[in-house]
Amino acid sequence: MLTKIEALRAQLNELLEKAESSAELDKAKVEFLGKKGAITELMTSLKELKDPMEKKNAGQQINLLKKEVEERLAARADELVKLEEQRQIEAGPRYDFTVPAKSGQGSLHPITIVQNELEEIFASMGFTIEDYDEIVDEYHNFEALNIPGHHPARDMQDTYYLSNGQLLKTHTSAAQNAIMRKYGAPLRAIFPGRCFRNEATDACHENTFFQMEGIMIDEDISISNLIYFMKTMLSEVFERDINVRLRPGFFPFVEPGFELDISCLICGGEGCPTCKNSGWLELCPCGMIHPNVLTAGGIDPEKYTGFAFGLGLTRLAMMKNGIKDIRVLNSGNLKALSQFTSR
Ligand code: DAH
Repeated sequence: MLTKIEALRAQLNELLEKAESSAELDKAKVEFLGKKGAITELMTSLKELKDPMEKKNAGQQINLLKKEVEERLAARADELVKLEEQRQIEAGPRYDFTVPAKSGQGSLHPITIVQNELEEIFASMGFTIEDYDEIVDEYHNFEALNIPGHHPARDMQDTYYLSNGQLLKTHTSAAQNAIMRKYGAPLRAIFPGRCFRNEATDACHENTFFQMEGIMIDEDISISNLIYFMKTMLSEVFERDINVRLRPGFFPFVEPGFELDISCLICGGEGCPTCKNSGWLELCPCGMIHPNVLTAGGIDPEKYTGFAFGLGLTRLAMMKNGIKDIRVLNSGNLKALSQFTSR
């Protein structure tokens, strides 16, 4: 009996090595485990054994073999799936990129257009452009930004947490720490990215939106530098001279913190319904980077200072194009979007 079991094991090894398709594996399964399969046969022949010890021992061995067959067939099936995927990847995509599109040429999304413009402007001012994860941990999204666990500022960003404790980044500020650690000071960088918050959607709110964060750190950086860079950048974006003003605003990662407003583009500052008759539009929160944030990023706050801003890319794209409903941007509605993608 035991020799038969060993022979079957050898046969299994050979079969598994040769099996190249799931059909072959199915066949092997029937041969071993089926109603008339080799293992079932062995089980039946157990009753021919007279010695109870021998019978018990053989029974155990058959059970072990059965378990082994099941496990190894399943493992080989997984392996075959992976091999097949690999083969398909190596064979390359099966589309022909040179076939002209039936529905005409594609175009860039309005947000991508604004992002590209800003990247060009900031690159010309010596800023590097950084890419950063969309899934981050609490440390980077909050703690490193001077927002500890109990801080009420967390309530302003209704966060999507993942079951493993990570989260979808609620703002591009989440990259500040990693970028400070990567480059140290002095530093000029912008980092555009997609952000997520659990918002009830309406014409002005989306759960998925884009921001562009920027930081500049060096010796003797002051609020004047912040105003200069913002004014230059916005004048370039809107292709006209833009007036800005700063109002105090609270964000735990900057001190002092501001809301930056621009003079209303519709009425030129006279007052109209778009700017609620104030002559100003709120555009970009910003401020001087808090010493705790610099320290967390490995930068000495005694030696260096810096400014940071978080520009709403989605908002900017809406303002530039006169888009009244934010939902259009994520809709994938080509008819609506193509109005804003002529460039
Ligand atoms: N991260 C903030 C938000 O999404 C915006 C922000 C405010 C960014 C001030 C900054 C800043 O860099 O200095 O609400």
